[in-house]
Amino acid sequence: MSQATIESILQEERLFQPPAEFSQTAHIKSLQEYQSLYDKAKSDPETFWAELAEKELHWFQKWDKVLDWQPPFAKWFVGGKLNISYNCLDRHLNSDRADKIALIWEGEPGDGLKITYRELHRLVCKMANSLKSMGVQKGDRVGIYMPMIPEVAIAMLACTRIGAPHTVVFGGFSAEALKDRLLDAEAKVIITADGGWRKDAVVHIKDQVDKALADDGVPSVEKVIVVRRTGHPINMQPDRDYWWHELRKAAADECPAEPMDSEDPLFILYTSGTTGKPKGVVHTTGGYNLYTHITTKWIFDLKDTDILWCTADVGWITGHSYLVYGPLSNGGTTVMYEGAPRDSNPGCMWDVIQKYGVTIFYTAPTAIRTFMKMGEALPLARDLSSLRLLGSVGEPINPAAWMWYYRVIGGERCPIVDTWWQTETGGIMLTPLPGATPMKPGATTLPFPGIEAEVVDLDGNPVGENQGGYLAIKNPWPSMIRTVYRNPNRYRTTYWEHIPPKNGQYLYFTGDGARKDKDGYFWVMGRVDDVINVAGHRLGTMEVESALVSHQAVAEAAVVGKPSDIKGEEIVGFVTLEEGYFPSDQLAKELKQHVANEIGALARPATIQFCEALPKTRSGKIMRRVLRNLASGQEVAGDTSTLEDRSVLDKLRGGA
Ligand code: WT7
Repeated sequence: MSQATIESILQEERLFQPPAEFSQTAHIKSLQEYQSLYDKAKSDPETFWAELAEKELHWFQKWDKVLDWQPPFAKWFVGGKLNISYNCLDRHLNSDRADKIALIWEGEPGDGLKITYRELHRLVCKMANSLKSMGVQKGDRVGIYMPMIPEVAIAMLACTRIGAPHTVVFGGFSAEALKDRLLDAEAKVIITADGGWRKDAVVHIKDQVDKALADDGVPSVEKVIVVRRTGHPINMQPDRDYWWHELRKAAADECPAEPMDSEDPLFILYTSGTTGKPKGVVHTTGGYNLYTHITTKWIFDLKDTDILWCTADVGWITGHSYLVYGPLSNGGTTVMYEGAPRDSNPGCMWDVIQKYGVTIFYTAPTAIRTFMKMGEALPLARDLSSLRLLGSVGEPINPAAWMWYYRVIGGERCPIVDTWWQTETGGIMLTPLPGATPMKPGATTLPFPGIEAEVVDLDGNPVGENQGGYLAIKNPWPSMIRTVYRNPNRYRTTYWEHIPPKNGQYLYFTGDGARKDKDGYFWVMGRVDDVINVAGHRLGTMEVESALVSHQAVAEAAVVGKPSDIKGEEIVGFVTLEEGYFPSDQLAKELKQHVANEIGALARPATIQFCEALPKTRSGKIMRRVLRNLASGQEVAGDTSTLEDRSVLDKLRGGA
């Protein structure tokens, strides 16, 4: 059980009202207003979403039908035509916003850039034209593997401008992980950089691209666009690799946005599941644009004067929805930061807030716990008075971290939105609305209007008040995952048949455990499946296990999450060795490094536990529950009568 779970089981009772000054000017001003929006959306969802779509977005052509729901497949705004790049850029150019700052970039070491909407539009058009000149057409997939530099947003908007679904791969993933994703997506072009800055050092990401593409590793890839960032020497393969600064010179400043069908794929984003390789979550154009737009507006209470800083990397869904598309669709100013707290500059986050007058700050509990540990002197030494709203995402926030965030960073004047959602949901699902919802530290509070959430048992029956169960969603929503790329069956079984549908009622299975309190507030406990949440990053146990067994010394491996004060969970790998190999610190180190090479540093196990055998049931299934107990130093709880060989347990205990 994680720290957050333990604390929330203690039944946090504190209640924090939205500050009156905040509510007065908020988009949604009171709980009553929230309730009436919620009721309206529930009683007539199609009218609710249609009115918003009409008001908030630009359409080249209006839709014929708001929702076509053939469970578990949904189509939103059927027949409508729009373009998200147009909604994020072009429509702001005929207003005062044309010369407003769209993107503030704080780079390392000491670099920085402010880009207006007009300039961003020009750069996006140039990139779009460069992609076209390389033969990229509507429907072709483009891989993006970049550090946190403006060109990553430019690349995304350029792809969606011409209707080429992008697949952004987090720059911290290894060549192997990159290759898997590019192969599955059959990317035609990759956009990357000569490197990036991470904690005072250069990360050589182009080498990873070269490795992934070596020996025709990804046959679909024809061209690579390389952004010059660090200027250090790299390999440029003739007729394959092209410098962006050279392409840019040749490319025209105008590129009309392609009118896309509302249901045309917008992007694919890979995420870890319980089995097999990461799955390609497919999002489509109209529903995603609308939902990320309206959630940004209402949850972050976005106004024209705001400066929103979402600290997530663009390689994750949070970066897609609340660093790029949501803020820009609203004509907001978004902040992108290439750096991270490090010994040479532990107060850097607070410097960024002070320097740019950030008003909305959105980060993860792991980061908040790290800041707590570094001490409050760092933030207190900066002027953080520009902040008016704080957000949390990625894992349960424990009440102690919530209180610290509220008091030290928010000065007790900023509401906190604890937002629960997933790669698959596209946008935030459970959250306070900051001017309306009373907050309880550790609760994600209430569903966004249009979302019907429930805590159920495995038969789909709602459990009682404060009883633990599975968090499920009862209705389709505009930005929901449409399918798993090239695997509709996996989509159906993973998300909609895990809880068997009854009488045509399908329940979307989130993979999270939760409880609902007497006020209808949701408390999310964390994953109930074989997914580990390390520092807000989602990893499948299977993925890490396959990485471990691909090492010659390893016979079998089982991976579990162990509670960690800072990271939420950390990875523990139990391994048995092949004949001729023996446990040693050296080998443990080597195995950790091997996983980092195979997947990325984020997957590196904190502990390797050598054992003679793994606890298995008589049918040969590894009993992860037993390993989880052992890893966290708890007594082995629950029924172990199905354990095939009880002596295994004693040996593991001895070794643990
Ligand atoms: C998983 C989704 C889209 C958010 C970034 C991660 C956990 C997310 C919360 C929260 C408790 C949370 C869940 C979820 N999670 N937000 N506010 N409280 N848990 O996206 O990689 O798709 O992971 O993150 O376990 O299922 P992701």
